[in-house]
Amino acid sequence: MITCSAPGKVYLFGEHAVVYGESAICCAVELRTKVSVEKSDENEIIIESILGRTGLDHDTHPYVSYVIEKMRRFADIKGVRIIIESELPVGSGLGSSAAVTVASIQALNHLYECGLSLEGIAKTAHEIEKMVQGNASPTDTYVSTMGGVVMIPQRKKLDLINCPIVVGNTHKFSSTKELVGNVAKLRSDFPSVIEPILYNIGQMSILAEKLVSEGDYKTIGKLMNINQGLLDAIGVGSAELSSLVYAARGSGAISAKITGAGGGGCMVALAGENNAEDIARAIENAGGEAIITNNTKEGVRLE
Ligand code: MEV
Repeated sequence: MITCSAPGKVYLFGEHAVVYGESAICCAVELRTKVSVEKSDENEIIIESILGRTGLDHDTHPYVSYVIEKMRRFADIKGVRIIIESELPVGSGLGSSAAVTVASIQALNHLYECGLSLEGIAKTAHEIEKMVQGNASPTDTYVSTMGGVVMIPQRKKLDLINCPIVVGNTHKFSSTKELVGNVAKLRSDFPSVIEPILYNIGQMSILAEKLVSEGDYKTIGKLMNINQGLLDAIGVGSAELSSLVYAARGSGAISAKITGAGGGGCMVALAGENNAEDIARAIENAGGEAIITNNTKEGVRLE
């Protein structure tokens, strides 16, 4: 049996704006999805996860089903058993769909010796996200494949962030496809208002590139908080997310904002050297589930 894992991610800047070609900065985080694969004698596809045990099934396991179909371009896949285990909550803005897609491609790549490069994995994973979600940017799949702190669309690796990251999960499911669609509608209804907002979000990533290399988290934090205000302005906030964001800021976080598509899902806070536990407690007291994590330079890997 071969096992590969791929990390989730948080956005420091730029979700939604990146769909329109603006810059974003994303960090891979040390929360992983593991995919194990083995050939089976019967010519049967079996996919097992907390969502159930299915064959090729585009409703229950859309990402892995498309992975198998795509990987049949490179290998003669007949009978295979695929087991998915994840530390990433599904539909929460932490990139669980990218992580399962990337880890499955790499696991099958090893099992069938397809010879796909990391660039090839990121590209195939992005094609699959677009098939499932519609208008998906390459961000989540690229960061999950390569790891580290990455600026998109430049695909430029930045220095790692040297402070703890606290994630707050609202446990409210959100559909990326629906939220991306809502922003598209708002942009087409009010282009003169929404386009400058998306442009300004992109400008924060451009400013932050230098700040990341200088380790100036205080200024990065100020910009992240402005980014949060602009995400609210384009309608992807929610009462639950705001409540966790303000709880984190109130307990000393350097910054706190939505991460990912919004609507529900998760927020992310940057913590100081000694206050990650306090921020996590404040998030829990405000009704969220807190996870203290860190960024990671490692993308998809063989376990
Ligand atoms: C979702 O994690 C991030 C969005 O920007 C969509 C995308 O980039 O595909 C909302």
